[in-house]
Amino acid sequence: MADLATTYLGLPLRNPLVIAASSVTARIENLELCDRFGAGAVVLRSLFEEQILADRSQLEEVLDTASGSHAEAQDYFPPVSHADATDYLRRIEESKKAVSIPIIASLNAVNNGSWTRYARQMVEAGADAIELNVYSVATDLNVSSQQIEEQLLELVEGVLSVASVPVSVKLSPYYTSLVNVVGQLDQRKVGGVVLFNRFLQPDIDPQSETLTNAMPLSSPNELRLPLRYVALLAGRVKCDLAISTGVHRGEDMVRAILAGATVTQIAASVIKNGIHHIATMLRDLEAWMDERGHHSVDDLRGRLSQQAVNDPFAFERAQYVNLLLSGGALSGPLNARVN
Ligand SMILES: Cc1cc2nc3c(=O)[nH]c(=O)nc-3n(C[C@H](O)[C@H](O)[C@H](O)COP(=O)(O)O)c2cc1C
Repeated sequence: MADLATTYLGLPLRNPLVIAASSVTARIENLELCDRFGAGAVVLRSLFEEQILADRSQLEEVLDTASGSHAEAQDYFPPVSHADATDYLRRIEESKKAVSIPIIASLNAVNNGSWTRYARQMVEAGADAIELNVYSVATDLNVSSQQIEEQLLELVEGVLSVASVPVSVKLSPYYTSLVNVVGQLDQRKVGGVVLFNRFLQPDIDPQSETLTNAMPLSSPNELRLPLRYVALLAGRVKCDLAISTGVHRGEDMVRAILAGATVTQIAASVIKNGIHHIATMLRDLEAWMDERGHHSVDDLRGRLSQQAVNDPFAFERAQYVNLLLSGGALSGPLNARVN
């Protein structure tokens, strides 16, 4: 039987299937099911500082109103759920008690000081690792990409200086040179990078002439983008490479691992199919490996990375004309296979 065990962020995992930060990982009952159906690890839904700040201003408003009419106003507990990070930190503690698989906390902060403050608190609460969810939409015409990247590196250095557990960084694909950004993070000794986060994209409804915010779940086609970048990076950086976006089936895990992914993270497929789908994906991965005589995921990893294939330019082609000139059919196999 194929050996699925691996190591991610220095943590021993029974397999490379990690449940991504999402609504699935926001509830303890779900974490227990993830554990029961075989997940290797879970990433808790992010602590969003923006939400804490919004709740705090709601809290102040309530306290102001209350102090005008009651002497005991300071004891008044308003109906808000996240007045600070306490709920989140408690959830880390409860999760650690509820399941035996590693718990990765996820943080999306706004202010520089708070990235480090919350990271420290997450470690104290028992998180096995911290994933930094660093994305925000760049909207300032006067802030350059270089400034944005410097800010990213500064906040990562800050967190690394206080966190006594491994730290990974979940990136968006929207960098001019993503491989350079990952290289810079790697030099600073992050434990891993997660490629990629997937964001809410506002839409416009022509019927009602209004903005809409529906978030369609990913499809397996979207795996190609992280697949390419993991294949480009595998073997060139020391940090772990996690693929998030578009991993829906056991065969998608096969693709990711062949490209060089240390682990795959899944959200949409679990939301769509239910938490028991974890077991199906693992069974399919194992069956594929057994059928082909591959003994361990660690041996399989990166066999079709850019460094490993005999057509290294396959991952660099961007225009259709190159594909046509190389003699490849639009949907045919490229000249590379696992030996
Ligand atoms: C309902 C929902 C909630 C999510 N919440 C978070 C979150 O709190 N933090 C985060 O970093 N990513 C969050 N994500 C993004 C997922 O972790 C993941 O990166 C993305 O969905 C792509 O993976 P998928 O194709 O397996 O869905 C969320 C996704 C969904 C669908």
